[in-house]
Amino acid sequence: MHYVTFISYICHFATLFCVSAQFRSSNDNNIIHLLPAYAIASRASLLDSATCATELRAFLDAVDQRILWGLKTLDSSGELIPGFLYGNNFWLGSRSQCLDIMNKAPLELAKQYILNNTRYRDPQDEFPPFQLNYFVAYIRHNSTFQYHINTVIEDLITLGLCLPASCSTNNISFILEGIFRDRILLINDLYFVDFNLIQIKNLKDNHQWLLNGAIPFICVGLVLTFALMISGTIYDIFIYQTYLKATNKTVSKYISCLVWSWYLSSDMQFFIIGLALLILSTVYFYVAVVILCTILIASIILSGYISYIYEYVPTLDEQYRLLDVLYFPPWIRIGPYIIGMITGYIIRRFNKKIILKKVKYTIFIFT
Ligand SMILES: *[C@@H]1O[C@H](CO)[C@@H](O)[C@H](O)[C@H]1NC(C)=O
Ligand SMILES: *[C@@H]1O[C@H](CO)[C@@H](O)[C@H](O)[C@H]1NC(C)=O
Ligand SMILES: *[C@@H]1O[C@H](CO)[C@@H](O)[C@H](O)[C@H]1NC(C)=O
Repeated sequence: MHYVTFISYICHFATLFCVSAQFRSSNDNNIIHLLPAYAIASRASLLDSATCATELRAFLDAVDQRILWGLKTLDSSGELIPGFLYGNNFWLGSRSQCLDIMNKAPLELAKQYILNNTRYRDPQDEFPPFQLNYFVAYIRHNSTFQYHINTVIEDLITLGLCLPASCSTNNISFILEGIFRDRILLINDLYFVDFNLIQIKNLKDNHQWLLNGAIPFICVGLVLTFALMISGTIYDIFIYQTYLKATNKTVSKYISCLVWSWYLSSDMQFFIIGLALLILSTVYFYVAVVILCTILIASIILSGYISYIYEYVPTLDEQYRLLDVLYFPPWIRIGPYIIGMITGYIIRRFNKKIILKKVKYTIFIFT
């Protein structure tokens, strides 16, 4: 009995030893290689740009020796984070921490606290010997494990990278493409994923965005609108006071570019149809009723028919797919409007004679 226990102990320890030895050998700096920023730095020799390559190598050495600024830099870069399978593609890292690494005048703290901090840290190790910058890589992945609901940018990964400012976006693209080609990151193996680099952006804020893109147009538009508003108001008051007391009014028109304003055109069409039918009903009431019911039934049948020919299944992704044929068109949407018109008519007709009881439950409506 004793021998059996002894032998089993021996085996147990032998196994433990083997496992820990294996772990140690694989742990020997290999796991850090799976972090994107470290992987980039370890390929510095591929660059011919002297400064960028030297600084990347300095960063690599700092991490290997666990020097604080190196760790802070690595810690500011993005990496695979939880939630990938459910669509979390934002591996942002921390831009503010990255830029703060160079901040030699941090928040003032009381003397004793600073004393305690410096007990464990060498102030010399806090700051990198070169400037850092924050970059963002846009990467398309093709893992089939991630859930898809058919939106446009759902397989686009945003990876934040805190790297030497001397590195150009071209340099980083060059290295990253190699990394993606060789499939050395953890996620390549784990989720059978391949990457395709779209673009590297330099997030240095030189306030250029104020000068290019839509901002100048928006400013000009705002100024023009404001000028138009003021001159319109002055004109209005002038006309009103001098000539047309309470007879005429000018209405200024706004061009809207708001996303949800697609509904305005539908609403306008419904309003015109409703108004025409209302006028018709004062003379030929039943003709108007028949037309209204025909439109209602036609809209229902048409919705059914279009759903049928496009093989629509009522799910979120299908709705995205068929926005143009099943969500926006007025002939699909006029049904609820007609029901509203009929309700309005009934309430007006039986004015105060129908008693609407309060219902104890709530109905949520989404059209
Ligand atoms: C500094 O550290 C010492 C020892 O760890 C601790 O007793 C003391 O409370 C700390 N002082 C402050 C101001 O945190
Ligand atoms: C790195 O960037 C520098 C500066 O833009 C450029 O001259 C050099 O060719 C780049 N090297 C590579 C390998 O992309
Ligand atoms: C992802 O892309 C790579 C390279 O283009 C390809 O070999 C691989 O089969 C793709 N994987 C999937 C799941 O489509």
